[in-house]
Amino acid sequence: MARATRKSGSRYSSCVTDSLTPVPLGTWPTPMEPMPRLARALGLRPQELWIKRDDLTGLAGGGNKIRKLEWTVAAALADALRSDGRKPYLIPFGGSSALSIRGYHTAGLEILAQQPEALTVVTAVGSGGTMAGLVTALGPHRVLGVSAGAVTDARAAVATLLRDGGWPVNELRVDDRHIGAGYATLTDATRHAIELAARTEGIILDPIYSGRAMAGLVAAVRGGEILPVGVVFVHTGGLPGLFGHGWSPSPSRSPE
Ligand SMILES: Cc1ncc(COP(=O)(O)O)c(C=O)c1O
Repeated sequence: MARATRKSGSRYSSCVTDSLTPVPLGTWPTPMEPMPRLARALGLRPQELWIKRDDLTGLAGGGNKIRKLEWTVAAALADALRSDGRKPYLIPFGGSSALSIRGYHTAGLEILAQQPEALTVVTAVGSGGTMAGLVTALGPHRVLGVSAGAVTDARAAVATLLRDGGWPVNELRVDDRHIGAGYATLTDATRHAIELAARTEGIILDPIYSGRAMAGLVAAVRGGEILPVGVVFVHTGGLPGLFGHGWSPSPSRSPE
């Protein structure tokens, strides 16, 4: 994977043009918090690792769907007004569409305002909308997506959403080394990352998405694949996933 360099996302416009207004469903902006203890455990300076708390988006347990739904619901309402109100509106797989990625465009702008030094922003990738939206605000070089294996080709899924939304498609940074035996499985690296985040910061991650993304972050830091400064982890929620998974913590171990 290419090492990140300081590049701006200047080819990506920072505003979205048309009259559709998102329906407010969440609590914004979500907090940006430091993770000094996890930073130290990974050999980073304490001020170089941050977490964007999109597990705290406010509605129904939080998570990344709320940002996408604000746009999808807006489109559904516009549609209902146009017809007699009976037309079903299809919410796409993962809530991701060329329209709903605007939710994570806004999240990317929040990240820039809260942490202007952000150099690598790490997120889980499922259907691709979260990463695609972040790329539209931050540019492709600053976003590192970690695939959960929800789709066969995560990079292509993100690229398609960008293209359909009329955004430029450049080289995307997608790490698909953490899928393990498949989407629904828990990898050792993910278990380790979940335990590390819980022990050092009291941050709870899920085994499918945010845990895998943290495993990707840990591997990228330890492998020198990203610069050790300005690292932001996007916590996309998914906590209900913990309850449906046959997961239990490994025997007590002290954090590194
Ligand atoms: C908790 C959580 N994080 C991340 C993702 C991945 O987001 P996206 O589908 O936008 O790639 C999902 C998708 O279901 C999710 O539930």
